[in-house]
This record gives sequence, C-alpha cells and structure tokens, in this order.
Amino acid sequence: MSEQNVIMEVNHLKKYFRLDSKRTLKAVDDVSFKIYEGETLGIVGESGCGKTTCGRTCIGMYDRTDGEVLYRGEDVHKMDTAKKKEFTKKVQMIFQDPYSSLDPRMKVHDIIAEGMRIHKMNASRAEEIEEVQNLLRSVGLNAEHASRYVHEFSGGQRQRIGIARALAVNPEFLLCDEPISALDVSVQAQVVNLLIKLQKERSLTSMFIAHDLSMVKHISDRVGVMYLGNMVELAPSGELYKNPFHPYTQALLSAIPIPDPKIARNKKQIRLQGEVPSPVNPPAGCHFCSRCPYVTDRCKSETPVLKETAPGHFTACHLYG
Ligand SMILES: Nc1ncnc2c1ncn2[C@@H]1O[C@H](COP(=O)(O)OP(=O)(O)OP(=O)(O)O)[C@@H](O)[C@H]1O
Ligand SMILES: [Mg+2]
Repeated sequence: MSEQNVIMEVNHLKKYFRLDSKRTLKAVDDVSFKIYEGETLGIVGESGCGKTTCGRTCIGMYDRTDGEVLYRGEDVHKMDTAKKKEFTKKVQMIFQDPYSSLDPRMKVHDIIAEGMRIHKMNASRAEEIEEVQNLLRSVGLNAEHASRYVHEFSGGQRQRIGIARALAVNPEFLLCDEPISALDVSVQAQVVNLLIKLQKERSLTSMFIAHDLSMVKHISDRVGVMYLGNMVELAPSGELYKNPFHPYTQALLSAIPIPDPKIARNKKQIRLQGEVPSPVNPPAGCHFCSRCPYVTDRCKSETPVLKETAPGHFTACHLYG
C-alpha cells in the first residue's frame, strides 16, 4: 500500500485520564499507526487495554493528552468548527451496546434520519422517508420498521438500526467498537457479514475493535494488538495468525481453540501468568514484562518501540532486533 492511501495517521498518541490530584491513568500511552484508505484495521486486546479510548481519541470524541491524529492530513484535534462538522459526517461510529446507544423514545425513522437532518441531506420529507426506507432495506430490515420503537426489536435488529444510522450520512470511515459482542452468538456472524458487505459496497475504511482474534480475522485486512495502552504488534491479519512475533500475541492466539488437532498439537502454547497490571502504575520498560515468559533485564527498563520485524509486520519487543 502506498503512502498516498493513508487516510488516518496516528503519531505518538497518548490519552491519560486524571483520576485525582495524584493518580493518572495511562489508557493510551504512545501509540503510532496508519490506516490506509479502504482497509479494515482490527484492534484487539484484553479488556481495559485501551481499545475504546484509542478509537474514540482517533475520531476526536476524546481530546488527546499528547501526540496527534491526522485525518487526510488534517489534525483531528485542531479542526475549526466547519471542518469538525464535515469530519463528524465523514466519520461514524457503531457502538458495542445496541440497547443503550439507541434512544428508546425515538421512532426508528427519526433515529436514522437525525444525522441526515443535521447535515441537511434531504430536500423534502418524502426524500427523507425514501432514504430511511432504503437504508433499512440495505441492512436487512423492512421499510415498515421505520415507524416502530427500538424496544420492539431484537439485539441483532437493533444493531442493524445502529448501522443504518451510521450509514445515513454517507460516511467514509467507520469506528466499530465491539459491534457484535453484546449480541447472541447465533446472530453475530450475520451482523459481521452485513458489515463486510456494506464496507465493500460503500468502499468504507474502518477500525474494528474486538476482544478476540478469531472474530477480527475475518473482517480485518490488518490487525493491531494492544496491551496496557501500547500497540505491541501490527501485521496483515493472515500473517499475524501464521507468524505472531510478540509473546503477548502468541499467548492470545494460544487461547483460541483450533479445530484441526494436527495444527493444534504443533502450536506453541503460552499461558499467561497473573493479571494485567494497573494502567495507573504500569511496569517500567515493556508494559508486558511482568507477564512475559521471555523477560530479560532490558525489558524492565527500556520500552520497546514498534519496529518492522518482517515486511509490513511491526513488533514492539526486545526479542527482535
Ligand atoms: N472516562 C474514563 N475515566 C477514567 N478512566 C477511564 C475512562 N475511560 C476508560 N478508562 C480506563 O482506561 C483504560 C482503558 O479503557 P478502555 O475502555 O479504552 O479499554 P478497552 O480495551 O476498550 O476495554 P474493553 O475491552 O473492556 O472495552 C481502563 O483502565 C479504563 O478503566
Ligand atoms: Mg472497549
């Protein structure tokens, strides 16, 4: 992928939360990566590692503590009001919880039409109605659903409404924050397949946050692995699964059940000891050093940076190079 295709560039991004006068929680602690136009970048890692904070800071929902996020070369956190309005139309979000993210007092039509009204996208009420109905059909719902309230729908259907709402303003970038983890396992695949189809049809770029690697594999072109506020590995998804370099990624992959017993037997099993340390006082050096089976003295003092350890494959670990 050439440099011209970069849609989002994240440089040394930090997002800290001030808990009180003495304690600062380092949710995102010096993260750099690029997202190329048309790709889906998966972000994985255990609960609390900073995925949501990273995603939300990247789209300007949160202010940043340090570093920068450039969207088509423009600093997301320094846009004037007019630029910001345009940006909030181009960049949409799909939330984890389709129960709390949709207003129960609004009809489905109004939920979906709200953004289009803000951006004055339809010339008439008739046009708006037609647009909403087209959107409902494109996410696998019926035009008649427009006059109902969200409590009348299942979790999977609600998430489809959330997707229609995001697509209503014709975005070019989607932040999907665990969009299926609150859904029944039986409908998860349907919603993922719908997202894959819509992304292709509309040439969307997206950042897809998820807990586990097995899910993210299907939808992502590349995957970034986060651990305690850091990006520890970033690679094309096939490559990451075949050839994980970082001990943390290896451990995450060991946790995925493999249907083929032959492959399962050959796979290196890494079991992590202990809990993720607190992001208030992360370990010095490599944040993973307290749980890493290969830890050395250097890891406890020097923070490894993300380096290209194979073509297009980046790893932040002193074991490499
Ligand atoms: N508004 C906030 N104020 C203080 N701390 C916060 C805030 N939001 C997040 N955090 C903390 O920042 C860290 C990262 O949280 P974040 O929600 O980004 O993680 P996550 O990877 O998305 O987790 P999950 O998989 O559970 O959604 C956590 O320790 C969390 O408690
Ligand atoms: Mg989250």
